Amino acid sequence: MNIRYIKQSGLFHLSNNSISYIMKIMENRQLGQVYFGRRITGHPDFHHRDERMHRTISSYPFENDTSFSLEHILQEFPSYGTSDFRMPALEIQQENGSLITSFVYSHHQIYHGKPDLPHLPATYGNETDDVMTLEIHLKDTLIQAEAILYYSIFRDYAAIARSVNIINHGAKALNLTTVMSMCLDLPDSDYEMIHFSGAWAREREKTLRHLEPGIQSIGSLRRHSSHQHNPFFILKRPSTTEHNGDAFGFALLYSGNFLAQIEVDGHHTSRIMAGIHPAQFTWHLEPSESFQTPEAILCMTNDGLNSLSQNFHGLYRRHLIRGYWKERSSPILLNSWEAAYFNFTEESLLSMAKRAYACGVELFVLDDGWFGTRDNDKTSLGDWFPDIRKLPEGISGFSEKIHNIGLLFGLWIEPEMISKDSALFLQHPDWLIQTPGRTPCHGRNQYVLDFSRKEVRENIFRQIDSILSNSNIDYLKWDMNRSITDCFSALLPAYRQQEVFHRYILGVYELYERILQKYPKLLIESCSGGGGRFDPGMLYYAPQGWISDNTDAIDRLTIQYNTSMGYPLRSMGSHVSSSPNHQAGRTTPLETRANVAYFGTFGYELDFSKLSDEECGKIKEQILFMKKYQSLIHTGSFYRLLDPQGNNRMAAWMVVSKDGSQALVAYYRLLNEVNAPYHSLKLHGLSEKGLYRITPGNLTCYGDELMYAGFIISDNSCGRVFDNSIKTYDFYSRIFILERL
Ligand code: DGJ
Repeated sequence: MNIRYIKQSGLFHLSNNSISYIMKIMENRQLGQVYFGRRITGHPDFHHRDERMHRTISSYPFENDTSFSLEHILQEFPSYGTSDFRMPALEIQQENGSLITSFVYSHHQIYHGKPDLPHLPATYGNETDDVMTLEIHLKDTLIQAEAILYYSIFRDYAAIARSVNIINHGAKALNLTTVMSMCLDLPDSDYEMIHFSGAWAREREKTLRHLEPGIQSIGSLRRHSSHQHNPFFILKRPSTTEHNGDAFGFALLYSGNFLAQIEVDGHHTSRIMAGIHPAQFTWHLEPSESFQTPEAILCMTNDGLNSLSQNFHGLYRRHLIRGYWKERSSPILLNSWEAAYFNFTEESLLSMAKRAYACGVELFVLDDGWFGTRDNDKTSLGDWFPDIRKLPEGISGFSEKIHNIGLLFGLWIEPEMISKDSALFLQHPDWLIQTPGRTPCHGRNQYVLDFSRKEVRENIFRQIDSILSNSNIDYLKWDMNRSITDCFSALLPAYRQQEVFHRYILGVYELYERILQKYPKLLIESCSGGGGRFDPGMLYYAPQGWISDNTDAIDRLTIQYNTSMGYPLRSMGSHVSSSPNHQAGRTTPLETRANVAYFGTFGYELDFSKLSDEECGKIKEQILFMKKYQSLIHTGSFYRLLDPQGNNRMAAWMVVSKDGSQALVAYYRLLNEVNAPYHSLKLHGLSEKGLYRITPGNLTCYGDELMYAGFIISDNSCGRVFDNSIKTYDFYSRIFILERL
């Protein structure tokens, strides 16, 4: 890992063993982009890569140089209107109404380590020498503003972290109308964009489109990253596969409104940007104030999508997830939601918990319904005190009883919300987000508290703190079940109303941080009606997130498979629920439900008191299996083998320990086949010459055979029977354990 500056040519070259990121100070002193890709050897100037040409109709900043047009030059952090007409990374409205700026190189700094981002989630270094940072300071002297571009390169990952800080050094106020976290101009557009779109219970469906001239974008204006789009996307060459070819990955560590956009111009260059969505956003900067953008991550690999994913997995596990739970596996949990919904008594919960403990469950989570008079979703949000009709000794008494059984205890909260039927609303009807003179829209019978206000956050902190300090709580599930409508904050002046969305998210982050500072051993799982705020920003606070309210194992195959493109398995909340499934109505074997849920945090979401002894016996075995392989699943390298989305009737994936000595290979039948073709899976990550024992069965094979000739998966539907005793059926699944001898 190295960051070099070559003064004579004004060149910056960030590199590690895998990638190079090269920029230079251009003729007009603005910053140009030279190259981002596989590592290349440094050159003293790279002048020969400057592509300049006179093009009719173009505009030029220099009167006598018709070849220097910003419209045709790859740039690093462009603005609009000084010969570039593409979408800008930065736009500042000045007192006289002008939007024109010109930020030119002033100075830079290179150092080991990486600074924290004030009030925002960010990657960090673990050791003094595992990350290096370059700060490039650009200045617009006319408006006396400074833009500090931060670039951090990681020693062990093909990744760069970027963010921007804008400072107003002048005497007049400025309005930031656009400030992206990153911008990257690539020299061509022969790429396919993969993004993860969907809706509630259908999160992260993989969407692929070839880049076309014009703008293609995804984003959210719901003030949470959303079920509809995820702040993570990929650009790959059309020929790139899971295991070969160029791929770029971009992620925004942010949980609010975002924009991810690619603009392809008439000469087929691609401008990639990600940051806070400029719609519904203007940040007012008084003299000496500054604005820090969220952080963006840029990854690049030549080894296909799986390698790209492994970079994100490793980076997040090592440089983003932090605190007590960073090196620990999540406890195996039972969550009460699908087991009981709002309908429970202390007795019914305790009987579930006792049975769960007997089966090996480690953590009991009491979901929605425990506070105020919350018998349905119309009431009590904001009243974070226990409903003693259901829990006579409150949360402190109940948590004690759960601990006495031998389980850890977890609790559901939805701190950002308020019900109109609540004591909090009676006291503070003006605390919900609403526009003066208008009736606020409704959503799940609840309203959003104005978390941009300090006194609102203070009240909620005090309530949660009182429960946490008086009870024995090991885990919180932090839910958030509606988007903001009618956005307006009663305390802000008119010229700051476009800041509310961002201030809101900063408020959420502040509350997370405050709770974690006071309760550092608390495990928080983020949630938003399932996966409506499952984003890398959240992972900084909550190492695991509930990825979808859809708990059907077959639908989950696609959701987990696609989520793994950008997120590590240990971050994905995944549970075994009852059958028929409550969302999809599908009946699936208990074994398959577990075989899918293992590849995440693992837990249960069904009524243990209704299980037969036989089911309990199976669950005991499942939990023993998970405990045995949890560390492999959560720290190993994950490989996607067969995509459930598309025409496959099967899905498969595997996880291999870092030293290649142990692996799990899982395959799943969606629908059974009759007289089917033979199937085999080409495995990955094994030692070529290692001899592996494969169980179940008594086969031993060398790693190279399994990787290059393939692993024949036994299945009586195709006639090539490896194990005759096995009859397959719809939703059948199997996990093979590979141990190197
Ligand atoms: C939505 C979550 O995603 C569910 O798991 C559950 O916690 C409900 N909210 C409770 O209201």
